[in-house]
Amino acid sequence: MNSSKTALLIGASGLVGNYLVFKLLQSDRYAKVIALVRRPMHLKHSKLEERLVDFDQLTSEDVAGADDVFCCLGTTIKQAGSKEAFQKVDLIYPVEVGKLALKAGAKQYLLVSSIGANAGSSIFYSKTKGEVEAQIATLGYPSYTIFRPSMLLGKRKQFRLGEELGKVFDLVLSPVTLLISPLRKYKGIQASKVASAMLGRAGQEAPGQHILESDVLQKY
Ligand SMILES: NC(=O)c1ccc[n+]([C@@H]2O[C@H](COP(=O)([O-])OP(=O)(O)OC[C@H]3O[C@@H](n4cnc5c(N)ncnc54)[C@H](OP(=O)(O)O)[C@@H]3O)[C@@H](O)[C@H]2O)c1
Repeated sequence: MNSSKTALLIGASGLVGNYLVFKLLQSDRYAKVIALVRRPMHLKHSKLEERLVDFDQLTSEDVAGADDVFCCLGTTIKQAGSKEAFQKVDLIYPVEVGKLALKAGAKQYLLVSSIGANAGSSIFYSKTKGEVEAQIATLGYPSYTIFRPSMLLGKRKQFRLGEELGKVFDLVLSPVTLLISPLRKYKGIQASKVASAMLGRAGQEAPGQHILESDVLQKY
């Protein structure tokens, strides 16, 4: 399949985003891949356009030309420094990009959310993830797919204690989670699989709204 579609990616420098940017560049579906970044990634590829943007002041030019929007943006409260700063990255920026891109003609939004996302949750992280899912749903994309991974596995540039402890827990629990099917979605997942699922689903252009839980993502 050869296509002249354009992918717009936010979070390209992150764990999932980095896998995804290479998959998008290799895919025949896309003639162009736009990465919105706050600092240069120094990646060179004939199909790649890096747009350096101020996420607090996004404009329609920043998102111009996008057919499919991929969001792998995210942070932690610790990294961001406050709940408000976390919300900017995990909620406000993804919604703002979605709004502007839809207005500019995008047809599809693919969002990495998280296992347990729930706007009614008392856990701030899960609540924020539920809110971002819900707010993007109201924008009116012809096709909108939410990916809800469990703990992401893969090589990170920086050490995250919580994730390292989670990996040990995952290893111990693995035989149990594999045997008891309701627990399967809690098993850690390779970030590359999430990226593959995003590319695969984009190719389907399934109309309406879809949610893929982590156990389904394991199949990619
Ligand atoms: N970690 C997990 O186990 C886990 C589990 C379930 C779901 N998730 C979710 O999955 C998604 C992808 O996670 P990941 O681990 O791949 O993310 P990641 O490696 O932490 O990457 C985050 C991306 O967001 C960008 N970003 C962070 N703060 C920013 C800011 N203030 N302004 C602009 N860009 C900013 C980063 O850009 P810079 O390089 O410029 O910082 C990077 O591209 C996230 O939404 C995360 O919440 C994660």
